[in-house]
Amino acid sequence: MADDSKGVLGHLPPLPRAALNNSVIAMEQAYRKRKGLPLISDADVEALKAGTPMSWEEGGSGVVASAPTASALPAAATAAENAAPAVVAAPAAGGAISEEVAKWVAEGKQWSKSAIAAEQARRKRKNLPALNDAEASALLGEPVEATAATVPAAPAAASPAPVAVAASGPISDEVKKWVAEGKKWSKSSVAAEQARRKRKSLPALTDTEVTALLGEPAETGAPVPAAVPAAVPAAVPAAAGAPRPAASAAASVARTGESTRYVGTPAVGTSKAAAAGGVASVGPENTPINQGRRVFAWSMVAAFLTAWFIAFFRFFLPRTLFEPATSFKIGYPADYGLGVDTKWQQKYRIWVDRTPDRMFVIYARCTHLGCTPDWKPSENKFKCPCHGSGYDSEGVNFEGPAPRPMDRAHVEIAPDGQILVDVSKLYQWPKGQPSHFNEGDGTSGAWLRA
Ligand code: FES
Repeated sequence: MADDSKGVLGHLPPLPRAALNNSVIAMEQAYRKRKGLPLISDADVEALKAGTPMSWEEGGSGVVASAPTASALPAAATAAENAAPAVVAAPAAGGAISEEVAKWVAEGKQWSKSAIAAEQARRKRKNLPALNDAEASALLGEPVEATAATVPAAPAAASPAPVAVAASGPISDEVKKWVAEGKKWSKSSVAAEQARRKRKSLPALTDTEVTALLGEPAETGAPVPAAVPAAVPAAVPAAAGAPRPAASAAASVARTGESTRYVGTPAVGTSKAAAAGGVASVGPENTPINQGRRVFAWSMVAAFLTAWFIAFFRFFLPRTLFEPATSFKIGYPADYGLGVDTKWQQKYRIWVDRTPDRMFVIYARCTHLGCTPDWKPSENKFKCPCHGSGYDSEGVNFEGPAPRPMDRAHVEIAPDGQILVDVSKLYQWPKGQPSHFNEGDGTSGAWLRA
C-alpha cells in the first residue's frame, strides 16, 4: 500500500506545504479510498504531519522526484499501468459527464447530497445508468478532477474496459468463503464489516463483495463475481486495452458503485432513496462504545416506561391511611398491678392505671396542645415536655397550662375476659363542668372494677 502512493497527490496541497493535522490526513485518506486512489503510506503520513516533502516528492526521502499531482491513477497502479496513458485510466475512476448532467450543471442548479440520492434512486427504478463520480461531483459543485473532466462521454468507446472491474472489484477469497458458508448477511452486518476493515486499515469490501454477501443477484453484464481471480488488481485491465462500451450495463454498474458513496453520510439508512442509492450498508460503526451508548439509551427508555406504567397502575389503587386500630385488647385485669403501666404507650398511646378499687385507661395526650406527657415514677406524676403541664398519677392536671385532666378511654371486659379498650370513645372532665370519669358500671365505661 505504501508503494502505491507514489506520485499521487490527490487533494493534498503541493509543496511548500504546512504541517497537516490528523483530521486533514484522514479526510485525504477517505477521499482516496472513495476514488480508489492509493492510500498515503505511514512514512508519508509522518512527513505530512511534519510538513516535510513525502518520500516521492522532490526533497523527500524517496527516489521519485516528480509525480503527476493531478493524476487519478488507480489504486493498484503498477509498472504496467504506468505505460498506459493517464487520460485513459482516469475515466475508470471518475467517469464521464453525460449531456443531461452537463445541462443541469450549466443551468446552475445547486444539488444537495439527498437530491443526488433521490436521483440515483430514480435512475435505479427506471433502469437508467447511475450517476458516476464525475457527475455527482459536478452536481455537488465539487471540483472535478482534471483528467476525468477532460474525457468526453461519447468517445468512451475508445477507452479501455477496466471500469467495470475497477469499480465493482473482485471477490476476495475470504468473502468467497463467507458466501460459500451460506451465512446470511444483513446490511448492518456489512456495515460493521466495513467499519472493522476501516479500523484495521484493511481494504473495504467492494460492491461485488457486498452484493455477494447480501445475497443479491449480480446485475446483468457485470463481468465480475466469483469467477474473477482475486489476484487481479482493480485497474489492471487498463493495460488490456479492450474497448469499453460507452452505454454498457457493466459501465452502469461500475458507476453506481462509486458514485453512490457521495451520499452515504447524510442519509444513512434513513430513506428509501438512500437505500436505493446503495448507502444503506454504510451505517454507524458497531464499535463497543456505540454498543454501550445504545444499551444506555434503551435502558433509559425502559426505565422511563417502567416508571410510567407503575405510576399509571398506582393511580387505580386507593389512597389508604394505615392507622392503628382504635379498638384493641390489652390482656386480663390480673396482668396489671397497682399504679401506672406504660407498656402500651408506644403502640396505643395509652397508660393503664390501677387504683385499689378500679382500673381505667388514660389517653396519653396533653390537654394543652396535644403533646404526649412522660410518666415520672420517681415523682409519681405525668409531665408534659412541651410546656410543663403536670398531671398526677390519675391524669388530673395540677400545674402548667393544661386546662383539664387527660381523657380516659372506654374500657370493658371482652367475652374472653380480656380488657377491651376503645380510644375512639373518650371520657373527659372539661374545666368547670362535671366529670365523665365515673361513667359506666364497672364492667363497661370509663372504668372497670378492680
Ligand atoms: S402541650 Fe402539654 S403543656 Fe402544652
